[in-house]
Amino acid sequence: MREVAIVSAGMTRFGELWESSLRDLFAEAALEALAAAKVDRLDSIVVGCMSGGQFVGQEHIGPLMADQIGMAGVAATHVESACASGGVALRTAFLEVASGASDLVLAAGVEKMTDGADVTAVLATAADQELEAFHGITFPGLYAMIARAHMQANGTTEEDLAWVAVKNHRHGALNPKAQFAREVKLEEVMKSSMVSDPLRLLCCSPVSDGAAAVLLCPLEHAKRYTDHPVKIRGTGLATSTMALADRKDPAFLDAVQLSGERAYKMAGVGPADIQVAEVHDCFAIAEICCIEALGLVEKGAGRHAARTGLTALGGKIPVNTSGGLKSKGHPVGATGIAQAIEIFEQLRGGAGARQVKGARIGLAQNMGGSGASSVVHVFEGV
Ligand code: COA
Repeated sequence: MREVAIVSAGMTRFGELWESSLRDLFAEAALEALAAAKVDRLDSIVVGCMSGGQFVGQEHIGPLMADQIGMAGVAATHVESACASGGVALRTAFLEVASGASDLVLAAGVEKMTDGADVTAVLATAADQELEAFHGITFPGLYAMIARAHMQANGTTEEDLAWVAVKNHRHGALNPKAQFAREVKLEEVMKSSMVSDPLRLLCCSPVSDGAAAVLLCPLEHAKRYTDHPVKIRGTGLATSTMALADRKDPAFLDAVQLSGERAYKMAGVGPADIQVAEVHDCFAIAEICCIEALGLVEKGAGRHAARTGLTALGGKIPVNTSGGLKSKGHPVGATGIAQAIEIFEQLRGGAGARQVKGARIGLAQNMGGSGASSVVHVFEGV
């Protein structure tokens, strides 16, 4: 396999973007990535999108997006893995370049969630229809059950969850592209309305529009496009049972662990080598579970990480320096690529006020559903 690098990135602001359609969002992010690398041709485009069909009535996303940026004719593929669609698009693009099949591939993610669809019902189609959604469970409901199981097993409290929100909003306040770029106080989180007990409004990621794109090429060509490429050292994809009730331990995200182990193995690194990470905090409890499953903290110790500053900017292992899904926003198909962009910028010294000094190795973890799919990438600044 060839070594692969990311050489440029483009991203819209995340939020309720009434003025932009699904295709506008994609075009803005894609054209920014192409312009940054001074590229006007591609071998292939891979687009992650959870559900253009249900959110805005648009399927056949691959050719639509190629056409939208004036590249009808190019190979274009749409990939879906619920909220992990962006991360899986990155992995697909990586494999395409690594295999030698293509030299220049755009990996993108896009979602338009605020155009009037019943968002909670659409998102619930990423749960098991027969065993879960049919009975009325929603994603806040599924993660509330994960939170309860974690509380029972580890003594995790509502305050531990709230600290994750406080930390990520503090990071997001430094990110001009974040949907909620403002700090929140612990008391504010603890008093926000209950969405699904024990998850309050400020412990949930919001409903968002947005798009993100990165340009991949063989590492040996990377300096043609940028002085500061970032190498993708490892990729890992894994699955778990669709239904939460079928898992031995609902508080432990086994697909996250497996995908992390696969990515670490390919990269030849371990959790102790990771200096900055973006993980899938769709709900505050998810960040706690993900950092445990990735081995960034001991199993059961995740509840303390935000409160003690371990995972804050300036801490030993900063997590979700972008603000995470919580503060930056979560346009589901775009999230995995946006996470990769944060790590790309961190490893090339381009993260501005959020910069983690001296970071050379970073990780992004993107999850589908209640953890039925997870994809991890390990990156290195070169
Ligand atoms: N974080 C911070 N502020 C938020 C917020 C969030 N997650 N969600 C909404 N707000 C703010 C809004 O800006 C609004 O403020 P305003 O009154 O000053 O304008 C207020 O809170 C109420 O917002 P509203 O949009 O009416 O909330 P809602 O009740 O319709 O939706 C949730 C709130 C949490 C239910 C919704 O965002 C949600 O379903 N999130 C989870 C999405 C999800 O499941 N994603 C997939 C994960 S696997």
